[in-house]
Amino acid sequence: MTATMTEPLILGIETSCDETGVGIVRGSTLLANTVASSMDEHVRFGGVVPEVASRAHVQAFAPTLTQALETAGVTLDDIDALCVTAGPGLSGALMVGVSAAKGLAAATGKPLYGLNHLAGHVAAATLDTSSDEAEPGSGLELPTIALLVSGGHTEILKITDLVDGIELLGSTIDDAAGEAFDKTARLLGLDYPGGPNISKAAAGGFDDGVPGDPTAVKFPRGLMTAKDLRDPERRYAFSFSGLKTAALRAVEAEKAKPESQRVRLADIAASFEEAVVDVLVRKTLLACEDTGINRVLLGGGVAANRRLRDKLSRRCADEGISLLIPPLSLCTDNGAMMAALGAHVVVRGKQPSAPDFGVTSSLEVDQVVV
Ligand code: KG4
Ligand code: ZN
Repeated sequence: MTATMTEPLILGIETSCDETGVGIVRGSTLLANTVASSMDEHVRFGGVVPEVASRAHVQAFAPTLTQALETAGVTLDDIDALCVTAGPGLSGALMVGVSAAKGLAAATGKPLYGLNHLAGHVAAATLDTSSDEAEPGSGLELPTIALLVSGGHTEILKITDLVDGIELLGSTIDDAAGEAFDKTARLLGLDYPGGPNISKAAAGGFDDGVPGDPTAVKFPRGLMTAKDLRDPERRYAFSFSGLKTAALRAVEAEKAKPESQRVRLADIAASFEEAVVDVLVRKTLLACEDTGINRVLLGGGVAANRRLRDKLSRRCADEGISLLIPPLSLCTDNGAMMAALGAHVVVRGKQPSAPDFGVTSSLEVDQVVV
C-alpha cells in the first residue's frame, strides 16, 4: 500500500523490558524502527535486571529518538500523535518511556496515547514490509489467533478487531517461554539470552556438530493432561517452571553417569526445545480448532526459534491454517509496533489518554488504550 498524506504520522515509544524503541509510521508504512538494547548489561545476571534496564532506558532514550527522526526524515513538529507503551511490562522501565513521552507531549502540544504492549505486538503485523526482500510478509487479516512468546510474556489471543476485539484465551501461569529458555540455558552452563544458545546447543553447535535428538530426554509437557485440557482456565494456559526443574534433574543424572554413557548437551537442549515448542504449537492449534479461526500470527522474540517456526508452519499447513510471521525486527520489542497500533487507534477517533495516566505492569490485554 502507498502512503497518502491523509494517513497519520505516528511516533511510538517502547520501554517495557530491555529494548528502548522509537518507531515512526505513516499509516501502515514503516518509516523508522530504531532500537537500543541493554541485553549485554544483563548477561552476567542471566536475565533482565529491572533496575539496570530502567537506567539504560534513561541513557538510550534521547539518542534513539534523534536517530528515529533522522531515519524517517521528519521532525517532532510533523508528528500527528505520540504513543507509548503503558503496560504490561516492568514498572520502572515503563515509567521511563511514559515520562519521556509526557515530556514530549507537553513540549510539542501533540496528543499522547498510552497503549497496550501486547496489542502492539499484534499491530506490528499490519505494517507493510513488502519492500523487505529478505523477509517479505505482513498483511494481517482478521480474525486471527495470535501466539505471543517472549522473555516477558506468553499468550494466546483471539483477535477480531485490533482496537476493540482482543481477547486473552490463555497465558503462562509461571515463567514466560523465553524465560524458560533463559533459565534452562543457565542450568546448562550457557549464556544469556538462553534462546539462541539453546538452539545452537540443540543443533550440536557446542559439541560435535551433530544435531541433538529431541526424543532423547522425556521432558514434561506443562498443563497438557486431559484434565487440564477440559478445564477452561487451563486449556490454553502454559506452565514452564516444571521444565526447569526437570532440566536440572536431567543434567544431574547425566553427570552421575560414566562419561561414555552420557547423553550429549545437544540431546538435552533439543529435547528441552521440543518440549517448549510442542506445547506452544499444540495449544495454538487447539485455539484455532475451538474458535474456527484459520489464521495464526506469531510474535515476540521466541519467534526467532527455528524449531518453533518449522513445527508451527508444518502443523498449520497440515490443518489449512495460514501462518503470519512478521520480520524478526518487528517480532522483538520495538517502537514501530506501538506506532502501528497508534495509527489504528487515531484513525478510529479514540481520545488521547488522560494527562495523568500511569503505567500498569499487568495491564489487561483488552485495554488497548489506557
Ligand atoms: O521479545 P524479546 O526480544 O524481548 C523480551 O522479552 O525482552 O524476547 C527475548 C526472549 C529471550 O528470552 C530470548 O531467550 C528469547 O526471546 N529468544 C529465543 C530465541 N531467540 C531469542 N528463544 C528461543 N529460541 C530462539 N532462537
Ligand atoms: Zn514484547
